Amino acid sequence: MKRDIPSIGEVDLWWLYASDLNEVERARCWAWMTPEEHTQQQRFLRSEDQRMYLATRGLVRSALSTYADIQPKEWRFTTDTHGRPWISGPRLQPTWIFNVSHSRDLVVCAITSHGDLGVDVEGIDARRDILGIAKRFFVPEEYTALLGLSERNQQEQLFSAFWTLKEAYMKARGMGFAIEPQWLHISMQPALSMSFDRKVSDHPNRWAFSLGQLHTGHSLALAVSWGSTAPIPPEQIPANAPNAPDIEPTSLFAPLPDAERALPASRDQRALPASRDLGYHLVAHSAARGLQVRLLHGREALHARPSADTTPAKTPVTPSP
Ligand SMILES: CC(C)(COP(=O)(O)OP(=O)(O)OC[C@H]1O[C@@H](n2cnc3c(N)ncnc32)[C@H](O)[C@@H]1OP(=O)(O)O)[C@@H](O)C(=O)NCCC(=O)NCCS
Repeated sequence: MKRDIPSIGEVDLWWLYASDLNEVERARCWAWMTPEEHTQQQRFLRSEDQRMYLATRGLVRSALSTYADIQPKEWRFTTDTHGRPWISGPRLQPTWIFNVSHSRDLVVCAITSHGDLGVDVEGIDARRDILGIAKRFFVPEEYTALLGLSERNQQEQLFSAFWTLKEAYMKARGMGFAIEPQWLHISMQPALSMSFDRKVSDHPNRWAFSLGQLHTGHSLALAVSWGSTAPIPPEQIPANAPNAPDIEPTSLFAPLPDAERALPASRDQRALPASRDLGYHLVAHSAARGLQVRLLHGREALHARPSADTTPAKTPVTPSP
């Protein structure tokens, strides 16, 4: 059964852990990829990078196919000047927008049909010099907010919240780090909001942001625009949306179970939660926006299509342990 493609202010957020894919699922993803993608995948030296590449292509293709009578292998993609991938075929009216992010073993793919869209996930890395990075890349108020926290764990969580929100916006604009992080000013109180330096040439009132925390310790942020390149008149902004609570500053620091807080510091080690659930905990939506986010497990997409085009074949991807 086909899903309805998310409309204005709606986002589907597909997710999976790359190491969860079984042999049949890996074979499907491989069969959907183009020869160029096969070559690209083989360029990665580490098996976990190959696996992530494969899972990402499989998730994007199969998730898009849940909305249309289009086989996962039929999708074609192109990238723009800053490397952002777009759907180049089959042609859709209006074009659907997707954005991908991965961190360690987790891959997420956000999809909508209107506006700009960016997603970012970020794991906690205890080795990072977060204050050093914040001093360089954050605005003074954000740096001061981090300094005001006495516990390293809380600093990590606030740092990840700032970082993912900035990067989600930078990705939604398709410009990545061509937009400098310190041009974006985030405030968490009394509610989540972002304002922009003049160099950004944009207005915050056409954007909604969502910030969540996963039980792996990842932060996950979404930036979604209301489809216009111009600021939206206030009367057109949906107010009092049921799922748009103001941020409770303490909820950002909801304690994580010990085992999950002690995440490996190295990218080489995968942080796998005991439960394979995403464990998504919404921290904040930017105020007064009716942003609707639907979480969907990628396995559902991988199995949505009968396997006519995916005869299991040996993939050169190292199986997960
Ligand atoms: C986009 C960017 C911020 C992503 O950073 P990251 O934290 O390492 O990666 P994430 O996992 O969050 O996202 C990666 C995904 O974002 C997407 N992406 C790549 N470039 C993007 C862009 N400019 N805008 C939005 N999304 C982009 C891709 O789907 C990519 O996944 P893939 O490599 O598997 O296809 C960073 O790569 C960047 O700044 N790129 C721009 C570089 C640039 O300007 N290049 C121009 C040529 S010099």
